[in-house]
Amino acid sequence: MSKYTDYGTPAKVSDKTITLEIDGTQITVPEGTSIMHAAMVGGVTVPKLCATDSLEPYGSCRLCLVEVEGRRGFPASCTTPVAEGIKVKTQTPKLAELRKGVMELYISDHPLDCLTCATNGDCELQDMAGAVGLREVRYGYDGENHLKSEKDTSNPYFQFDPSKCIVCSRCVRACEEVQGTFALTIQGRGFDSKVASGTENFLESECVSCGACVQACPTATLIEKSVIQHGVPEHSVTTTCAYCGVGCSFDAEMKGEQVVRMVPSKHGGANQGHSCVKGRFAWGYATHKDRITKPMIRKSIHDAWTEVSWDEAINYAASEIKRIQAKYGTESIGGITSSRCTNEEVYVTQKLIRAVFGTNNVDTCARVCHSPTGYGLKQTLGESAGTQTFDSVMKSDVIFVMGANPTDGHPVFGSQMKRRLRQGAKLIVADPRQIDLVDSPHVKADYHLKLRPGTNVALIAAISHVIVTEGLVNEAFVKERCKWDSFQVWRDFVAKPENSPEALSEELGVAAEDIRAAARLYATGGNAAIYYGLGVTEHSQGSTTVMGIANLAMATANIGREGVGVNPLRGQNNVQGSCDMGSFPHEFPGYRHVSDKATLALFEKAWDVKLQNEPGLRIPNMLDVAIDGQFKALYCEGEDIAQSDPNTQHVTHALESMECVIVQDLFLNETAMYAHVFLPGSSFLEKNGTFTNAERRISRVRKVMSPKNGYEDWEITQMLCNALGYKMDYKHASDIMDEIAKLTPTFTGVSYQKLDELGSIQWPCNEEHPLGTPTMHIDEFVRGKGKFIITEYVPTSEKVTQKFPLILTTGRILSQYNVGAQTRRTKNVAWHEEDVVEIHPHDAEERGIQSGDWVGIVSRAGETVLRAHITERVQPGVIYTTFHHPESGANVITTDNSDWATNCPEFKVTAVQVSKVTQLSDWQKQYQHFSEEQIEFAGKSNALKIH
Ligand code: SF4
Ligand code: SF4
Ligand code: SF4
Ligand code: FES
Repeated sequence: MSKYTDYGTPAKVSDKTITLEIDGTQITVPEGTSIMHAAMVGGVTVPKLCATDSLEPYGSCRLCLVEVEGRRGFPASCTTPVAEGIKVKTQTPKLAELRKGVMELYISDHPLDCLTCATNGDCELQDMAGAVGLREVRYGYDGENHLKSEKDTSNPYFQFDPSKCIVCSRCVRACEEVQGTFALTIQGRGFDSKVASGTENFLESECVSCGACVQACPTATLIEKSVIQHGVPEHSVTTTCAYCGVGCSFDAEMKGEQVVRMVPSKHGGANQGHSCVKGRFAWGYATHKDRITKPMIRKSIHDAWTEVSWDEAINYAASEIKRIQAKYGTESIGGITSSRCTNEEVYVTQKLIRAVFGTNNVDTCARVCHSPTGYGLKQTLGESAGTQTFDSVMKSDVIFVMGANPTDGHPVFGSQMKRRLRQGAKLIVADPRQIDLVDSPHVKADYHLKLRPGTNVALIAAISHVIVTEGLVNEAFVKERCKWDSFQVWRDFVAKPENSPEALSEELGVAAEDIRAAARLYATGGNAAIYYGLGVTEHSQGSTTVMGIANLAMATANIGREGVGVNPLRGQNNVQGSCDMGSFPHEFPGYRHVSDKATLALFEKAWDVKLQNEPGLRIPNMLDVAIDGQFKALYCEGEDIAQSDPNTQHVTHALESMECVIVQDLFLNETAMYAHVFLPGSSFLEKNGTFTNAERRISRVRKVMSPKNGYEDWEITQMLCNALGYKMDYKHASDIMDEIAKLTPTFTGVSYQKLDELGSIQWPCNEEHPLGTPTMHIDEFVRGKGKFIITEYVPTSEKVTQKFPLILTTGRILSQYNVGAQTRRTKNVAWHEEDVVEIHPHDAEERGIQSGDWVGIVSRAGETVLRAHITERVQPGVIYTTFHHPESGANVITTDNSDWATNCPEFKVTAVQVSKVTQLSDWQKQYQHFSEEQIEFAGKSNALKIH
């Protein structure tokens, strides 16, 4: 039921055009275009099976044969390029006969169960049999065939039924060309050839379940299990994935209010038809039985919850907020927005807090991930955002990945990056751990700088030193585009001998010659782009590293055009948007300081209320002040600080110290276990709004089903506003965007109508840039002249000692997402049922640890127990874990250390000791007891397993 035209082969770009005649019609197309594609452009459809326009042509099925005047034989139109003046015929009696013959062969080895087949009516083989007019099969069905081949149902989301396979190789090519995993091959020759995954089944293979092969398969051989269950979808709605910051566009294919499957949109600006396992398949959480759909209240966290009406819940929340403010003062309350919420929800929430609560005590979960990006890029370049589109990477010659793991964290962009690397771009990876990109099929890093956690600033200093002292600075660019005096100070600083690779090599744990070679490659290898992630920001010097990265890009003129730039890879779907929408305590929407008189006046007038001109509390400050007894109430929407923030015991102590915690979420998450009011939220499938991805791309989120809880989240916030006596009357999420556009200079040109027309828009979008801004800082930096900032390396205070001799660093895994509240409620647990701790064989042997043993991990903050996995991915002295399961308690051990500028926690460096144990930690035992009790209080059974 695809709503997109398939041109058979990819579109070509060329300055030269070719004119040819197809079935009597003159058609002009770019040079290099296939005859098949040209025919489609001219409105002529040529039968095809092995061709599809997301893949390079292969020429195996011979169904697309055409006649070309003056040429012998019948060339395949998918593999034959157009030529000037040729005359092509796509329909002749001879071609019809040949095509029928081809189809006869396919059909004689095909189970003719069309009527009961799950894709009946949505099958290209069926369509082609009709298109060539096949009426009979002369060979019969009794000969040798594949009809009894066994199905592979091991993948939780799709099945492979070889009896229906026509060996067109579309799946194999999709896995190679689109996904870059190379999990499939065609084994054997001739009649014996078959698709194979190299292992017993799909689940055990290298397959990462991206779904590209399923998408490409023209038959029901590879098919979503949800389609088998629900049948062929009836209609589709385009929306945006609610998982990571890539922001893939999907067509939710529906039957009534039932999602049948999520298909990546071919025209999606960020993903162009590709997906990863999360967006493609892991949407089942939206209708999971653990969803809480009725509001609940309780007096104390030791009481059972009482289900109440929406009116009662909202009025109770409002009365508690008023009571607490009357007793403890305006500043005793605050709120937290989330990067999982839409822009409109975040905007309304920060408005509630600033205009109605009357305080700037508002913060967002970006505090714990990319706040240093906001600070660092604003200081140096003038805008708190990445500089490029994802597509820009296709013009990069050198890709420098620092502290990011794109194939796990940003998989669709990771695949695009791998495509560029297979085309020959060079790769530098700076990461303590061997991420997949370092060595994967047909991709190998030129330099893997395996630095010690916590030494990023020193690495950037050493690279800068080489660039400055070896004359690799692009002085013309710096003179024209940057503040020359700031450059001179920076240049003199990085040129100091103590910043040389030789001086810093030991501290970094990286050979000086590798640093020198990587620096030369970055500065002289052509277009060089930096991509970084939380491995850069979540450090005590996160902001410093971000500024150092911007310095590097400016010094080498790797900014302001395609193929280059400074690109933070945002973790969650709307990290960029939640920051844009004014969720930090010191900034109104559009990153304008709350003390700026003109901005303050603008918002006071628009919101008709007096506003505070002093920054409010950040999350860690709210928690500290709560423990001190002065912060008493919190409104927390879509965020789970009890799992995602560092030093869990400190967070839960703070939550316990509050008198009213209001949680608005889908599930009874860890924070909700400390709440007094639970307002059930709506999933991304149940609401309208927008998300802004890592490339500043604003995309529509569209409601595909009614909210199970009755309301979209912005409506709930609006009800709370009204109950507190502030009139808010948005009728639709688009009204909120209209207000955002009116009040935010970078958004003045954004509207739902324009988003519907263009598909997506990259901000700034205003009078100057009516269609948005794919690449930033082209002629000048947003701040005018780019500013170099000194980035002095200050080692973290989190030191390894005899008591805590190892460094724990954390990250994420492809199949799970953040705190796991969504993905743990999907079949993705097939790949990651529990968090494990990776440890180097040397460290494991010293401690007598075997893979699979339970090990206790003790830090200055706390202790937890995880299963060990011995691997050389981590270096000696470093251990690694993920934090997707609350009972793992990864954040019980992380400390309160944080970035000097933004308080972003130092998740990536915790000094620990590890030893073999036989039982859970005390915290885990208490957690188990507490969470079981809380789940009972909510009248739920414990659906999620606690180990
Ligand atoms: S699902 Fe993706 S990774 Fe797995 S075989 Fe298909 S294309 Fe390859
Ligand atoms: S599984 Fe599908 S895509 Fe792959 S070779 Fe068979 S028919 Fe073609
Ligand atoms: S890459 Fe990110 S946005 Fe795209 S489907 Fe996967 S999780 Fe969703
Ligand atoms: S579509 Fe051209 S050979 Fe298969």
